Amino acid sequence: MNAPDTVPALPAGKNPALRVVPMPADANVHGDVFGGWIMAQVDIAGSIPAVERAQGRVATVAVNSFLFKHPVFVGDLVSFYADIVKTGRTSITVAVEVYAQRMRHSNEIVKVTEATLTYVATDESRLPRVLPSA
Ligand SMILES: CC(C)(COP(=O)(O)OP(=O)(O)OC[C@H]1O[C@@H](n2cnc3c(N)ncnc32)[C@H](O)[C@@H]1OP(=O)(O)O)[C@@H](O)C(=O)NCCC(=O)NCCS
Repeated sequence: MNAPDTVPALPAGKNPALRVVPMPADANVHGDVFGGWIMAQVDIAGSIPAVERAQGRVATVAVNSFLFKHPVFVGDLVSFYADIVKTGRTSITVAVEVYAQRMRHSNEIVKVTEATLTYVATDESRLPRVLPSA
């Protein structure tokens, strides 16, 4: 099941935007981590490079794609890597890749989720704001 998504190590030369360990309160009725918890963390992780690029507040305008490839378990060390893949006049699109380190099961590392989200730089009135020059 895990073959192509089990990796020998986390991505080299990159820092995760976010690393977090889900708790029992983050589980669904079956005891695995609730997809909504992962979606919330992905949104937070993606917003970090977006806020840096926008030099200020952003709002999530779209979740373009979201693929849960493998489950996340309570107690996994979950790392979220977020990279800007496109910028427009006011928008920033970020790809987020999520890896789970199975701390309670042989320490294997599995790529569990891939997502792409678009953020819009906003002003004090919550209206779109032109991105500052890079
Ligand atoms: C984000 C928000 C300020 C954008 O305002 P808007 O008037 O819809 O903005 P625009 O139509 O001018 O689009 C702004 C940018 O978003 C992009 N965009 C809009 N809808 C999009 C979509 N479905 N997918 C990808 N990009 C989209 C536009 O292409 C544009 O990008 P560009 O300036 O780089 O070309 C507004 O939609 C909003 O407040 N949404 C709620 C945000 C929120 O609360 N998010 C948290 C989830 S509850």
